[in-house]
Amino acid sequence: MPNYSKVLIIDYGSQYTQLIARRVREAGVYSEILPCTAEDALITASKPSAVILSGGPDDVGEPGAPGLSPGILQLGVPILGICYGMQLLAHHLGGSLANAQDREYGPTELTIKNTTTGPCSLWQGLAEHAPFTVWMSHGNKVTGLPEGFSAVAATPAVEIAAMADEKRRIHAVQFHPEVHHTQNGARILRNFLFNIAGLNADWTMASFVDRCISECRAKAGDSNVVLGLSGGIDSTVVAALLHRAIGKQLHCIFVDHGLMRHKEAEEVIGMLNKHLPGLNLYHIQAQKLFLDKLAGVEDPEQKRKIIGHTFIEVFEQEAKKISNARFLAQGTVYPDVIESYSAKGVVIKSHHNVGGLPEKMHLELIEPLRELFKDEVRAVGAELGLPEDVIWRHPFPGPGLAVRILGAVSEERLAILRAADHIVQQELRAAGLYRKVWQGFAVLLPLRTVGVMGDARTYEHVVALRVVNSVDAMTADWARLPYEVLGSISGRIISEVKGVNRVAYDVSSKPPSTIEWE
Ligand code: XMP
Repeated sequence: MPNYSKVLIIDYGSQYTQLIARRVREAGVYSEILPCTAEDALITASKPSAVILSGGPDDVGEPGAPGLSPGILQLGVPILGICYGMQLLAHHLGGSLANAQDREYGPTELTIKNTTTGPCSLWQGLAEHAPFTVWMSHGNKVTGLPEGFSAVAATPAVEIAAMADEKRRIHAVQFHPEVHHTQNGARILRNFLFNIAGLNADWTMASFVDRCISECRAKAGDSNVVLGLSGGIDSTVVAALLHRAIGKQLHCIFVDHGLMRHKEAEEVIGMLNKHLPGLNLYHIQAQKLFLDKLAGVEDPEQKRKIIGHTFIEVFEQEAKKISNARFLAQGTVYPDVIESYSAKGVVIKSHHNVGGLPEKMHLELIEPLRELFKDEVRAVGAELGLPEDVIWRHPFPGPGLAVRILGAVSEERLAILRAADHIVQQELRAAGLYRKVWQGFAVLLPLRTVGVMGDARTYEHVVALRVVNSVDAMTADWARLPYEVLGSISGRIISEVKGVNRVAYDVSSKPPSTIEWE
């Protein structure tokens, strides 16, 4: 990416590495993460304008603890070490380390120390606020400075809580500027990016869209591109980008598996026709095929497998009809890319939304969103003029309502769940909560309970309500919905949805539970 300032973040396994990348991007600078096992050649080829070394759980210098790639220092670009990154720099450049007697976890007070030339450039604009609260999480500390460095801040437990070699533009902090609990954290990162490294804040969604469109156009050439479009934010933004980039060379396949929410297929098709006029869109009605294959199947994994395989079968059949198709577009986003390797380079899971299809069909991949975080995908959607409804739509799993109907899927049970779920969506919106929560939906349980309606005994279905807060779906907590909202959702479902006489609220977090029930 030659035209952009780029910060390379080397991941030593900290739980905050993604957060560093986000903070840098929030400051308007493009950032990328590489695992600490990345080869020097890869680091050099990525041509960063600055490097940040993340924290990590290891003890520097211990057997098996990751070291500092020599290529990083040879780049000659400004470096910021955070926590483990600071200790690594100290160790590598000739300083000394010790186990901290008082391990520091959580908040502590940082006091800025002046050097002979005044306060360090990391603290520009801050000196008058010192001391301030910073977030620590470490067992080791730097006790001896490497040559050329000055100690530029201290905490009650750590004398060298930050160090700098202003000449070589190498700075390091023992605390975590990327977490919200650190006061002035964003300012400190900005000081590194702009005052020290002299980068440009040139990462905007408008510039991303322009670049992405020209790259996709160049990559596609005269060939056609096939896209599986679900109406969710990721695939819709990919469609909007590629529609702008290559127009009629884009062919979108919308597979209707019959497991959608209330009127979802109609709404998605209507929205696409309205906002992306002229889009090649094939609406494949495969409801019967999916429901026939799912009939009587109760095991969650088996349901998922059947849906996955059937999707591929239907998609492939349609895609084959498109001549000159060389590419498959996918809505892979950056957390998927990061998640597919661990800090130490081990592949944890490979993310392909349409598992195995590209290889099977000999298609190359186009993944225009692979550099973006979810909030950036939303911003790109807004930049492309997509409606708020699409931009803020809650995530919906590929296997659809099938994983929210516990036990076997049938038309009758789908109808019950759709009606209940529709009420959940309506009530969350009416309460102004739809955008505030990550996801909210109904789940149909394979149970019946006894109730009383009028003077009669009922024996009917139970619906569970699942509403969670999350930032990336990796972890989640149940939303503390106001009782009135819980009451109105439950009241409406029980009185309006025939066949349901009880609603329960799911109060489990992820982990150990998951967001979906299957
Ligand atoms: P879990 O249930 O694993 O879900 O906590 C995490 C997030 O992923 C969504 N999800 C899926 N999305 N295909 C998808 O595209 C799937 O098979 C799938 N399963 C779960 C889920 O809705 C939540 O946002």
